Amino acid sequence: MKIPMTEFKIKSLKSKASKNWRKEVERVLITEKQIARRINTLAREIGRDFRGREMVVISLLNGTVMFLADLIRHLNLPLRLDFMGVSSYGLGTESGQLVFTKELRLDVRGRDVLLIDDILDTGRTMSRVLPKIRALKPRRIKICVLLDKPSRRVEKVQADYVGFEIPDLFVVGYGLDFAERYRNLPFVGVLHPHVYKEAYKQVCQK
Ligand code: IMP
Ligand code: MG
Repeated sequence: MKIPMTEFKIKSLKSKASKNWRKEVERVLITEKQIARRINTLAREIGRDFRGREMVVISLLNGTVMFLADLIRHLNLPLRLDFMGVSSYGLGTESGQLVFTKELRLDVRGRDVLLIDDILDTGRTMSRVLPKIRALKPRRIKICVLLDKPSRRVEKVQADYVGFEIPDLFVVGYGLDFAERYRNLPFVGVLHPHVYKEAYKQVCQK
């Protein structure tokens, strides 16, 4: 189920956790509570679709760390878990050149794969990862992402399970990073522009 943009409320920083981040985070886009509730529903849906199957969860590192942990603890069915490392060079907010940093270990042949990523943006990552997994001959591959930015899509990729559909904003938290920081925020938020400006300034000075 996709969350329509109209239902999408931008929350002001109120919780205790967000107070600590106030200098860097401009606003909270999705609260901890909203995430938890949505993951519960997603897990029920996925559980129904994968029941009785040889399920292999493949999670893309590093952004899925929180989403994966919360999702699979609600998946009440037997599964195997593996990771693929995909990294894009650079500091920027665009996915640059992709590098595979960890390959799959598990055999997925004939099995049902649930491929998890933090966010589907341009779709370039997925369009590189999918053929690699398809070549291993799984029975089927379903894609699950916490966030989807459909307005940014360049490649023809769609997710089967989407936590939240969001507008064209660069977001951090709940696993998502900017320059490898902010992954530990318990919510999904938007950074103050000064954070980006400072980061770029530091890079230019090097
Ligand atoms: P895509 O290849 O453009 O679809 O982007 C996928 C990857 O880019 C994600 O797995 C993230 O690592 C990164 N990414 C895209 N948008 C954002 C964002 O708003 N915040 C943080 N990372 C993002
Ligand atoms: Mg990622």
